[in-house]
Amino acid sequence: MQVLGIDIGGSGIKGAPVDVEQGVLLAERCRIPTPRLAKPKPVAKTVAEIARHFEWQGPIGCGIPAVVQQGITRTSANIHEKWIGADAAALFREATGCPVTVVNDADAAGMAEMAFGAGRGRRGVVLLVTIGTGLGTSLFTNGVLLPNTELGHIEINHEDAERSASDAARKRDQLSWEAWGKRLDIYLKTLERLVWPDLIILGGGVSKKYEKFLPYLTVQAEIAIAETFNEAGIIGAALAGKP
Ligand code: BGC
Repeated sequence: MQVLGIDIGGSGIKGAPVDVEQGVLLAERCRIPTPRLAKPKPVAKTVAEIARHFEWQGPIGCGIPAVVQQGITRTSANIHEKWIGADAAALFREATGCPVTVVNDADAAGMAEMAFGAGRGRRGVVLLVTIGTGLGTSLFTNGVLLPNTELGHIEINHEDAERSASDAARKRDQLSWEAWGKRLDIYLKTLERLVWPDLIILGGGVSKKYEKFLPYLTVQAEIAIAETFNEAGIIGAALAGKP
């Protein structure tokens, strides 16, 4: 079965048809820069452009960096505040003419990793942390997702964790790998004390450079690096869109 997976990010919107049984992209992904300000209507237009690029007429799954309840986006950490309360699923459905399911982007990445990556077959509590512009989390118990956990926004020393431990924070503060690795460690240890995961999967673009920061992580949980890397968001969105 094929589903068009679309990953909406702060800088780019990426999509590709996905074989949802195998977890593989069936064509080279199409990437279009996110419209400036990332307001709902221009983003919906871009989603439709990606569907047109693939001449798509089937089901679509979309991941978006927001809390999503029954297709409605409830937050807007790194996208326009007009998303709060917007019916994202209806907007995308109208723009593409296809059935669309919308989920949180970190939950999408988590679903991909649990099905085809480092979390395959894993029981117990698995926490995926995607590190990028934001800090996204996805939490599973015995393979079942607890959606919209938003643990990137826990406060540590009166500061939103995302502001100090994301990859954007590393770049903004021009941190060495050691300095940033230590911040990430404080963040992960704080999470560990709250949800006691058996396995923590680290994803997002920066996870490819894991040799640079793994030496600074002192959490007790087993740590794994996401295996689906950049494609996790697209593959997981497609899984969510499976009819
Ligand atoms: C958002 C989350 C999202 C994460 C990763 C955070 O700022 O609040 O919804 O999953 O960034 O994109």
